[in-house]
Amino acid sequence: MTKIRIAVQKSGRLNEDSLKILKDCGVSIDNGKDQLKATARNFPLEVFYLRNGDIPQYLRDGVVDIAIIGENVLVEKGEDILVMERLNFSKCRVSLAVPNSMEYNSVQDFEGRRIATSYPNTVKKYLESKGVKAELHIINGSVEIAPNIGLANGICDIVSSGSTLFKNNLKEVEVILKSEAVLAVSPKISEEREEILTRLRFRINSVLQARQ
Ligand code: PRP
Ligand code: MG
Repeated sequence: MTKIRIAVQKSGRLNEDSLKILKDCGVSIDNGKDQLKATARNFPLEVFYLRNGDIPQYLRDGVVDIAIIGENVLVEKGEDILVMERLNFSKCRVSLAVPNSMEYNSVQDFEGRRIATSYPNTVKKYLESKGVKAELHIINGSVEIAPNIGLANGICDIVSSGSTLFKNNLKEVEVILKSEAVLAVSPKISEEREEILTRLRFRINSVLQARQ
């Protein structure tokens, strides 16, 4: 039997809420935590647990049919990927931040400065739109430490509660984008799987409505 293949974040902030929404849709998945793939018992669906940043490419290649993913990741790496539903969880911002001690007036203050980030495309596009030239230092995690160790003058990263910024003596100065979890679809999805998607979307919409 044909199954729809869905990518879900392997570990991290989206993982739990992604599985929760599937569960609320009445899709039960046996969860061997260490398995990278699981099959639903009562719906034609397979879950692939993947790294966030890899998901846009898997969608593009049609290795998976759909994904629950942060919009911020699509903006960074998958602007060509279609968003089908906004899922109203994992809300966050992608923002620029600087040390509390820095006097900050406008985005022009980043001119000629060094910005540490895991979101180079997003920052680059934003700065270009503002006519600001800065140097980017790309790191994959713990970005907020960069200014404290002299690696950069500022950062661009995800802000949710703001506690990581606070703990590292940084202040949020520009919000580049507001993000939430979304259901994204592969451009290569087959007609047969598209029918399964229609059924799943129907359930997702009912869940989202009930949650309001
Ligand atoms: C994420 C993100 C921020 C932080 C934001 O990091 O990169 O650092 O969460 O959340 P907050 O505003 O609620 O503090 P994560 O903890 O996932 O670790 P990583 O950056 O090392 O991947
Ligand atoms: Mg972090």
